[in-house]
This record gives sequence, structure tokens and C-alpha cells, in this order.
Amino acid sequence: MANILCIGAGYVGGPTMSVIAKNCPEHRVTVVDINEDRINAWQSDNLPIYEPGLDEVVKAARGRNLFFSTDVNRHIAEADIIFVSVNTPTKTFGQGAGKAADLQYWEKTARQILEHSDRAKIVVEKSTLPVRTAAAMERILNSNGIKFDVLSNPEFLAEGTAIEDMNSPDRVLIGGRETSSGQKAVQALVDIYAHWVPRERIITTNLWSSELSKLVANAFLAQRVSSINAIANLCEKTEADVNEVAYAIGLDSRIGSRFLRASVGFGGSCFKKDILNLVYLCEYYNLPEVAAYWEQVVTMNEYQQLRFVSRMVSSMFNTVAGKRIALLGVAFKANTGDTRESPALSVCRSLLEEHANVVLTDPYALDNARQYDLADVADRIEFEPDVYEAAKGAHALAIMTEWDQYAKLDYERIFNSMVKPAFIFDGRNILNHRELHQMGFNVYAIGKPPLTNFPADTFEFDE
Ligand code: NAD
Ligand code: UGA
Repeated sequence: MANILCIGAGYVGGPTMSVIAKNCPEHRVTVVDINEDRINAWQSDNLPIYEPGLDEVVKAARGRNLFFSTDVNRHIAEADIIFVSVNTPTKTFGQGAGKAADLQYWEKTARQILEHSDRAKIVVEKSTLPVRTAAAMERILNSNGIKFDVLSNPEFLAEGTAIEDMNSPDRVLIGGRETSSGQKAVQALVDIYAHWVPRERIITTNLWSSELSKLVANAFLAQRVSSINAIANLCEKTEADVNEVAYAIGLDSRIGSRFLRASVGFGGSCFKKDILNLVYLCEYYNLPEVAAYWEQVVTMNEYQQLRFVSRMVSSMFNTVAGKRIALLGVAFKANTGDTRESPALSVCRSLLEEHANVVLTDPYALDNARQYDLADVADRIEFEPDVYEAAKGAHALAIMTEWDQYAKLDYERIFNSMVKPAFIFDGRNILNHRELHQMGFNVYAIGKPPLTNFPADTFEFDE
């Protein structure tokens, strides 16, 4: 039996440790956090994050061998293996501001581990960190005579499919030192995952390859989205259809079909942060061309969101001032309540700048948007959980999140309740555009020619 501790009970710490506890009943797994509200929520029936399948996994292990607590120091003292999954946001101050990772929470945790440990432990980097962070951590942790082994075990789960991804990962990556104690630590972590992950999917590397692979994986994924979004812009100018282009290129097995969904842009707490972190590292190591190459993925994503709004404004007769516009979805993707870096936020802010009357709707994410991301402008926004109410009296609807239910709405009813001419902007290409056009909507999808009822504008060469 091992005492496994995870410091940080967020979108990563909560789900990953719940799955470990469920699959390793002989180990005692404790998740701690300084945020008392979060810990209370993990102990209740109302978990702090929405994630399909999470409730069942937590219920299976909580109270048996899965525990949540705010007593960080006590649990550090008792732990044999400590995962650290605290947040590593982009630095907002000083050297590297706007790009580098802010490692203050990580470093604080390392010092706390050192202070409350009286024997050797394995410390696992679960948070996403710049390459070579483990070297700094080793220096802090091993400054007091106790020997800690630092491992890198980056997390690849995606929100909305976290439990599925944890249950059946494409791979588990573990990086460690090539010393005998380092390799012993690697083996201890391999043994935990081997409870449910086929051995050939657990790969081990050196520390630096593991740390860097996490940043690179996110950069490659985000790059595909920016690449197809770049092409979507060209499609809109040439009457090509980006869905058809994505399908055609994705059938080439060397390219593959996944992560080619053109959209209003990628969001989430990690893609932008991790690419900027990679850019900063390239600049730090004096590789300016490499840095510029990756930075363009983020630039393209910002352009995509701005262009979405400028297309809305230009197609709605160059003004949205005083017009009710309903944004369907605030979450950065479907099946999560997470709104961090969601494109809906920037679209909402741009529309407010244009003096539109914005109404937001979402099945799970309204509270996060109101309380955190849009708190500063919340009094200028209407938050409406009922989509049909949100659409009532609107000049336009815009799909911001690919929630399944938005593809299945009664659009006839919605059309009848809207101001005419009625516009629909599909930022996720999930709707049946021809059908909506036949109903009377003016339809603008990503990377497709508009379907409008204005004869002169059926094909726009310029916006
Ligand atoms: P999060 O903000 O949801 O959770 C981090 C938690 O750490 C917070 O609850 C915070 O209170 C806690 N914390 C901070 N300092 C602490 C301390 N000293 N002691 C105890 N608790 C402390 O963040 P997240 O989304 O779970 O991401 C965590 C890390 O995992 C980041 O590095 C992120 O890049 C990485 N990651 C995230 C995802 C994802 O899908 N969100 C996926 C893979 C990797
Ligand atoms: C992403 C990675 O997929 C995970 O492997 C990684 O662990 C995680 O980041 C992380 O490090 O935090 P996540 O951000 O949760 O996961 O969600 P994704 O499914 O990757 O989607 C990210 C954004 O890209 C969403 O806004 C999504 O709508 C958008 N996207 C994705 C597209 O616009 N088109 C696509 O084809 C795919």
C-alpha cells in the first residue's frame, strides 16, 4: 500500500486521481488544495467541475481509498508519492510577461514538500511545465539532505472526455533520471498505471523529452486547428467549402482526420498558454525563427475570432449597435463548464464594444462566465439559461460551442421569434445550413460561402 498525494484539486488533479483511486484500491489517494470551496465541492454531490462520467468514478472510490482535504502539510508528511498538479498560468509580470510560465505556485509547493518531509519521496510533475523545470525542482527539493526523485508525467486528457481519456489513454508518458534511484521511481509510477493501462502504452523517456513532449503535443494540436482555420478564410473568399476540404485532406492517412474542425478559434486554459511558453523557451535559447513559427499559431487564432465578429458586423449592414445578439455556448468546447480562454468571451467583448445587446446562454458554463471571465462587464450582458428565451427578439444567433443540443433545436420556432431579417452565424459548423436558409435565415458558417436572402450578396468577395 502506498500513500499517494496530489497537490491541486482542479480539472487535472480531481479527475486523474479519481481514476487512479478507482483502479488501485490497495493505495490510499488523497487530493489536497488550498481552495476550501473546491475541496468542499469535491466532498459533496455537486462536484466543482462538469465532466461526463466523473460523478460515477468519484462515487466509486470516495471514502474508500479516495479523500479530499485542505490539510496540505499533514498529507505531505504522510505521502510516499506526490503528484503536483497546481496551475501554471502565463506570467503577467516581470521577465517573460505574456509568454513564460508563472512557476510561483509550483515552486511554493516544492518548498512546502521539502519543509514537511522527513524521508525520501517521489515527486511527480503532473502540471505542464517548461522543459528543464525538473532540474530546478531537484535543486530545491534536494537542498536539505533528503533524497527526492523528480519524475515528469504530463497529463494529456482533454476536458469533456477526461474520464474516457484517463480510462483509455493513447499513451502514458513518464520521464525520469537514468540513475538507479530514478529508474526505481519510474518503475513505481509505471506499476500504478499498469493497473489499467496496457504496458505497451506506458512509455518512459528521459526527463527533458517528457517535459518537452507535453508542450509539443499541445502545439501540434493547436497548429492543426489554426491551419484549417487559415484555410477556412480562403474558402470563404473562393466558394470552396472547408468541411469538404478537411474531409478530402483528412482521408490521407499521413494527415488524418482529427483536429481538422474549422471553428471560431480554439480556446481552453492550455493551448495558448503552452504555445506561448514554447515560444518563450525558443526565444530564451536564441531560436527566433522557431519562436516566430509557433507564435503564428496563436496569432492566427486571435485573427479568427476577430474576423468572426467583423463578418457579423459587415453582414448585418455594418452596425450591430442596439441589436440583440444571442451567443449560444460560452464553454470553450462541448461537455465542459470551463470557460477559460473561450472564443465566446472575446466575441462577446467585441460585440459589446460595437454596442450590441448581448445575451449569453449555455447549459453548464453561465456561472463561470458571470463570476469570473466576464465579471467586469457582467452588468452589460444578459445571462439566459433558456435558449429559446435568449433567441426571442434577437437579430442574430451565433453558435459559439458545439453542444449537441444546439444542433437539435426547433429553429422554425426560433426563427419566428426573431427580428427579421434573421441572421445565424455558425462558429462551429454544426447546423444544417441549407435547411436554415430555406426557413428564411441568412446563414454564415465558417469557411463556406454565405447563404443569404439578399440577391446581390449571395457571394461576397470582400467584407
Ligand atoms: P486548475 O486551476 O483547475 O487547478 C489547479 C489547482 O491548484 C487550484 O484548485 C489551486 O487552488 C491549486 N493550488 C495552487 N497552488 C496550490 C498550493 N500551493 N497548494 C495546494 N493547491 C494549490 O488547473 P488545471 O486545469 O487542473 O491545470 C493544472 C495543470 O495541469 C496546469 O499546469 C495545466 O497546464 C495542466 N493541464 C491541464 C489540463 C486541463 O485539461 N485543464 C490538461 C492537461 C494538463
Ligand atoms: C487539450 C489537448 O487536447 C489535451 O490533450 C491536453 O491535455 C489539454 O489541452 C491540456 O493540456 O490542457 P482541451 O483544451 O481540454 O485539451 O480540449 P481540446 O479538445 O484539445 O480543444 C481545444 C480547443 O480547440 C477547443 O476550443 C476546441 O473547440 C478547439 N478545436 C478542437 C477546434 O476548434 N477544432 C478541432 O478540430 C479541435
